[in-house]
Amino acid sequence: MIDTKNTPPDHLKATRLKIWRGTSREEGGHQEFEITFEDGESVLDGLTALRRDSVPDLAIRFSCFNANVCKECTMLIDGEVQYACIAKLHTGEMQIDPLPNRPLLRDLITDTLSNKEKI
Ligand code: FES
Repeated sequence: MIDTKNTPPDHLKATRLKIWRGTSREEGGHQEFEITFEDGESVLDGLTALRRDSVPDLAIRFSCFNANVCKECTMLIDGEVQYACIAKLHTGEMQIDPLPNRPLLRDLITDTLSNKEKI
């Protein structure tokens, strides 16, 4: 179970998430958060726990949650485009950014619809 607030018990690992925040690429920046986690937990597990416990305005998008079906959790994790529900948390430091080359909406959410799909 992810804990974003307390000193971790021995079986938990710790990592620092550097998460991009903001509504424009020019004016936003990274904020850092310490979290603890168990082996096997995903980046999306960490982000949702962080939002639940201490950063309620963190903007993330997901739908199927760990089923790898919706693709809505796609973001840049340690410099690679990945699904946050599949990518695993690791110790040390992780950098999480919105998708590059897509219009930024807020934090880790980008506009992923093609122009043909917009009404
Ligand atoms: S939440 Fe659906 S693919 Fe990640």
